[in-house]
Amino acid sequence: MRDVSIIGIGQTPVQEHWDRSLRHLAADAVLAAKRDAGIERADALYVGNMLSGEIAGQEHLGALIADFCGLRGIEAFKIEAACASGAAAIRMGYMAVAGGLADVVIVVGVEKMTDETGEAVAAGLALAADGDYEVPHGLTFVAINAMLMRRYMYEYGIEHQDFAGFAVVAHQNAVNNPNARFRSALTPERFASAPVVAEPIRLMDASPIADGAAAVVLCPTEQARAFALSVRIRASAVATDCLSLHDRRNPLRLRAVEESARKAYAQAGVGPDDIDFFEYHDAFTIMAALSLEASGFAEPGKGTQLAREGELALNGRIPVATMGGLKGRGHPVGATGVYQVVEAVQQLRGVCGANQLPGPRLGMTQNIGGSGATVVTHILEVSE
Ligand code: COA
Repeated sequence: MRDVSIIGIGQTPVQEHWDRSLRHLAADAVLAAKRDAGIERADALYVGNMLSGEIAGQEHLGALIADFCGLRGIEAFKIEAACASGAAAIRMGYMAVAGGLADVVIVVGVEKMTDETGEAVAAGLALAADGDYEVPHGLTFVAINAMLMRRYMYEYGIEHQDFAGFAVVAHQNAVNNPNARFRSALTPERFASAPVVAEPIRLMDASPIADGAAAVVLCPTEQARAFALSVRIRASAVATDCLSLHDRRNPLRLRAVEESARKAYAQAGVGPDDIDFFEYHDAFTIMAALSLEASGFAEPGKGTQLAREGELALNGRIPVATMGGLKGRGHPVGATGVYQVVEAVQQLRGVCGANQLPGPRLGMTQNIGGSGATVVTHILEVSE
């Protein structure tokens, strides 16, 4: 196995891109990442995407995007793992480079969601739930997360307002991210008075539907030494769980998060206390709490305490969502995992402007598919 580094990053703003098609968005990110790395060719292109067939009426993204980016002929295909598609594509790129099958791999995550109605998008997202046992009962991802949140509040005696800190910190960090969907701060009062989407989830508990693309260029660490701004992938780990909530012994315990974090810590030879910042999967405030707990940053039932006590802010014990996270930057589902890694690379390069952490060395990213059925965790490290 070879060590793998990231030598180039690119991203588009996350917003409603009504004038750009899926292939244009992907190309914007790929070309930016190629320019950043200073490379022309690649051995392979992996595309993280969830909904192109359902929403954009387009599959076969690998060949399409390779051709459109001037890479016609190379190995290229789409990787789908629901909302974890982006990080799953990075994982594929990592394996290809680590295994010696490719020297330069470009990974792009791309999603275009806002051309369709909210109802159509909700139905598309629900394809990641159990189609035999959950979806026929009318469950959407908002509804699934609402059930989890209600159960959490009941089990641990938590109030809705205790979740405010997750959304407040995300919006605060998004203010200084030129690529973020929402660049406005959020007060706890506005969090509390937001309209109900599915009780107890209100608008400010949810990440927004959005369009966007982000890309990275990977190569062996040995060759990356020639690149001044490279960042090493210290760990890359995936774990899975059953799709449906009712098949889980304890739905408040995200076992695939636990397992992928455990594997990542073991690979990197570190623990949660060594992580300088965490780009977590705050698709809903309840997911933020549960993933902090399952990743070892808080005891079960104590995730909201970190948010209440300011431990998640840029100057806190474990800064999260440092460029806005899914809530503030936005959640173009299949692209999100690549945005998380791009932002972690920015932190480790020291180019986050007002949001820059002081000299971070280890950053963790975690991308969750469905209600916790596919979880991809990466630990990134500043290159010496
Ligand atoms: N947070 C804050 N504001 C939001 C928002 C969010 N998540 N979603 C939409 N808005 C804002 C819009 O910007 C718009 O503001 P404006 O009137 O000032 O322009 C307003 O709310 C209405 O937007 P609209 O697109 O009509 O909202 P909606 O009611 O159709 O959708 C949700 C809101 C929460 C239902 C939608 O964002 C959603 O489904 N989110 C979850 C997506 C999801 O499940 N992802 C997968 C996770 S596993």
